Amino acid sequence: MRWDLIQALALIQLASAGPVEKRDTVTAQVNFNNNTGTPQHLASGLLYGVPDTLNQIPSHFYQNIGYNYERAGGAQVAAPGRGWIWGLTEYKKRFQSALSNYKTAREYGATFIFLIHDLWGADGSQNSTAPYPGDNGDWSSWDAYLTQLFSDIKANSMTSGLVIDIWNEPDLTVFWNRDQSQYLQMWGRTWHKFRAEFGTAVALSGPASAGEPLSTNTWWKAWASFVASNQSVPDQYAWHMEGGGGDLLSANAGLDHWLATYNLPSKTININEYAVYNEQVPAGSAWWIGQLERINAHGLRGNWLSGTNLRDYMASLLGKSGSTYYPNGDYQVYKYYYQNMTGHRVGTLPSSDLKLEAYSTVGTDYARVLVGVRIATGTWELKLNSLSSLGLPTSGTLNVHTWGFPVASDVHYGEVDAPTDLGWYGHAYSGDTVNFPVYQTDKVTAYAFEFAI
Ligand SMILES: *[C@@H]1O[C@H](CO)[C@@H](O)[C@H](O)[C@H]1NC(C)=O
Ligand SMILES: *[C@@H]1O[C@H](CO)[C@@H](O)[C@H](O)[C@H]1NC(C)=O
Ligand SMILES: *[C@@H]1O[C@H](CO)[C@@H](O)[C@H](O)[C@H]1NC(C)=O
Ligand SMILES: *[C@@H]1O[C@H](CO)[C@@H](O)[C@H](O)[C@H]1NC(C)=O
Repeated sequence: MRWDLIQALALIQLASAGPVEKRDTVTAQVNFNNNTGTPQHLASGLLYGVPDTLNQIPSHFYQNIGYNYERAGGAQVAAPGRGWIWGLTEYKKRFQSALSNYKTAREYGATFIFLIHDLWGADGSQNSTAPYPGDNGDWSSWDAYLTQLFSDIKANSMTSGLVIDIWNEPDLTVFWNRDQSQYLQMWGRTWHKFRAEFGTAVALSGPASAGEPLSTNTWWKAWASFVASNQSVPDQYAWHMEGGGGDLLSANAGLDHWLATYNLPSKTININEYAVYNEQVPAGSAWWIGQLERINAHGLRGNWLSGTNLRDYMASLLGKSGSTYYPNGDYQVYKYYYQNMTGHRVGTLPSSDLKLEAYSTVGTDYARVLVGVRIATGTWELKLNSLSSLGLPTSGTLNVHTWGFPVASDVHYGEVDAPTDLGWYGHAYSGDTVNFPVYQTDKVTAYAFEFAI
């Protein structure tokens, strides 16, 4: 959540006129004999993006992408709604914003992650003298805040489908401008208070760090060590993937390292902010879908808007003309992912340069592969293995139907109502495997390949 730190620039897309660089050693793969279970469209969550006014965005926009996770807590509600550190009245206004987002989420069966640091007032807009929980060893304001919050959660029947995010990005000074040990005291205190109040009816999540849990990350080392000794392991391990070009295979290996080091249990993984702004295009979204599905992590789209726009546009999946919403190109990827990629998932591997990702499902009559390149142009290869496990011959011609998922001239907010049918092509193959190129002539278009089984 660094909309206030980074002035994102609109990606200007130049169509590539010349031939694209061949990257023939870099091949993504789909292994059709590796059934990895029922699709849950794990990447279909949003950070903010939902208006405070109920039903402002028509239902079908949520329903058609299988919207399943929301994360909010009244950030950037203006004065007099700046949160607890400005007094009870300003807390109440921010709470109402969170409550209305909770209601929208629950209307569609989505789980709601409550950002209680935003409700406190540490949403990044706080001034340099803003108080933090436990300043000078005094926890009275934080304790009173939690007492008020517990009472409001109960009074508004908010416990179902509720996850508490103990503090957002505590490894960044913009959200936690104190040392880590004060944060860890806050973590332990808050975790145990929530458990004492709600038992396991309300899930707890964290640390929602900006940094990945790599084995070199000393902030994570201190966190993992503390939660082990303090017996305050969250129900979801959460961190963000919004910078530095990191990938989830290495981040997940890093998490495994800390779990093994401190003998911590495995839990649901939630990447509750993923993708930087220029990755929020069809190619980037398809790339992240492949990443998240491989490690079975929930994912919530990051949000790069601010002010009231933060709580609108479904985290840059929609545009608006007057008060009428329409879908963008990125939206079509999530719609296809939810509505068409049914049946069972199969295992995939990204290209060795980690640029081309694939997500694949096998339905009753079609197998489908969604691919996305991480914001680059070039030619990659896609290799589909074990075709015979789908009942196809080990050699012959595979007729593949291709869909393109483009953007409009306004990359993020231009209207796109459907993917583009790019027709059928027959690929000769043998050895139970077919290989074909993915021509990525721009940095934004995702592709889906389908074939009958
Ligand atoms: C800074 O924020 C605090 C609340 O966090 C408020 O009490 C204080 O008046 C603010 N200071 C200024 C100079 O705005
Ligand atoms: C966990 O840490 C909090 C904050 O320091 C403390 O109040 C609590 O007693 C600790 N619990 C355990 C089991 O260590
Ligand atoms: C996806 O599935 C929906 C619902 O069955 C269908 O209407 C639509 O044509 C399909 N889209 C594609 C691109 O196949
Ligand atoms: C199947 O795919 C999953 C997810 O990509 C992977 O973790 C697993 O190692 C694969 N299993 C085999 C036998 O290839």
